[in-house]
Amino acid sequence: MMYRLARSVFFKLDAEKAHDLTIKNLSRFTGTPLDVVYRQNLPPRPVQVMGLHFRNPIGLAAGLDKNGECIDAFGAMGFGFVEVGTVTPRPQSGNNKPRLFRVEPGEGIINRMGFNNHGVDALIENVKKASYDGVLGINIGKNKDTPLEKGKDDYLICMDKVYEHAGYITVNISSPNTPGLRSLQYGEALDDLLSSLKIKQKDLAEKHGKYVPVTLKIAPDLDHEELVQIADALVRHKIDGVIGTNTTLDRTLVDGMPFAHEQGGLSGRPLQNRSTEVVRLLREELKGQLPIIGVGGIDSVISAKEKMQSGADLLQVYSGFIYHGPALVKRLVRNI
Ligand SMILES: Cc1cc2nc3c(=O)[nH]c(=O)nc-3n(C[C@H](O)[C@H](O)[C@H](O)COP(=O)(O)O)c2cc1C
Repeated sequence: MMYRLARSVFFKLDAEKAHDLTIKNLSRFTGTPLDVVYRQNLPPRPVQVMGLHFRNPIGLAAGLDKNGECIDAFGAMGFGFVEVGTVTPRPQSGNNKPRLFRVEPGEGIINRMGFNNHGVDALIENVKKASYDGVLGINIGKNKDTPLEKGKDDYLICMDKVYEHAGYITVNISSPNTPGLRSLQYGEALDDLLSSLKIKQKDLAEKHGKYVPVTLKIAPDLDHEELVQIADALVRHKIDGVIGTNTTLDRTLVDGMPFAHEQGGLSGRPLQNRSTEVVRLLREELKGQLPIIGVGGIDSVISAKEKMQSGADLLQVYSGFIYHGPALVKRLVRNI
């Protein structure tokens, strides 16, 4: 009820202005009596995945809290895990505005933000200030002006810095908004990246005396053969988990709707079936050898159950949360 009211106001604003205003106010409210507006006490639904204990399997997907400014607020809403980022080694402003659009009739979102973020050092300062005791994922990427052949170095720099602060680390090679990034999902480039990440993870585990799982986040726009090859690489390199999926370039399901022609990645309900299909194909190939985090268009208990029945061990939401607010988290945690 409360969220529907807030939504009717926020949806009148430009999408990015509404987002910025929300992040600003959430970080202000945290730790004050005003956080009753979004605080939810949810029943425990504990799960053990990647050797980590999750109080429930519903997480916040990357991109909403890119700089880790509202970790405690999202924790207070009842998320079992919160993924911050994508963060890059150096701060960057992202693409020109406007770059965020609501496709309201389809409950979709199109974004071409381009990893706007304050840089990894600023993120770590925010993480240090947070007192959230759930699992914190930190999602890492490369700066736009780092040449693709040096992209690997950006991931290693971020990994080095975030390792001791993260519950798990997500390697994002699937955003459509950084030129060339998705090419890291294939063949030798993928093998080279994964083997370097594993070596780094081993060094850091020794240095810090703790093992932090590494997950790979993939795109929905991969064909069957490409998914088979990625699954094979994940197993060969002993990657700890896979997140499926990021946003799609496909516009079939929003054809003719407002903003459907805007460039960028589409998320929300129009992505639901494709991302579930990716989860199902991953399960077929991986056969339980590593866990799957399912994300894409989850907006109800039914769509959440579909992802889990297709093989997801954990779930994340972004667009569904924008359209339905914290009540969605409550419904999902209570009913799955
Ligand atoms: C505005 C916006 C920004 C996003 N930024 C990121 C990001 O920085 N890193 C990332 O891995 N995914 C990012 N995503 C993708 C989401 O994490 C998620 O994978 C995708 O939106 C599908 O889930 P959904 O349908 O629940 O939104 C972004 C999504 C949106 C809508």
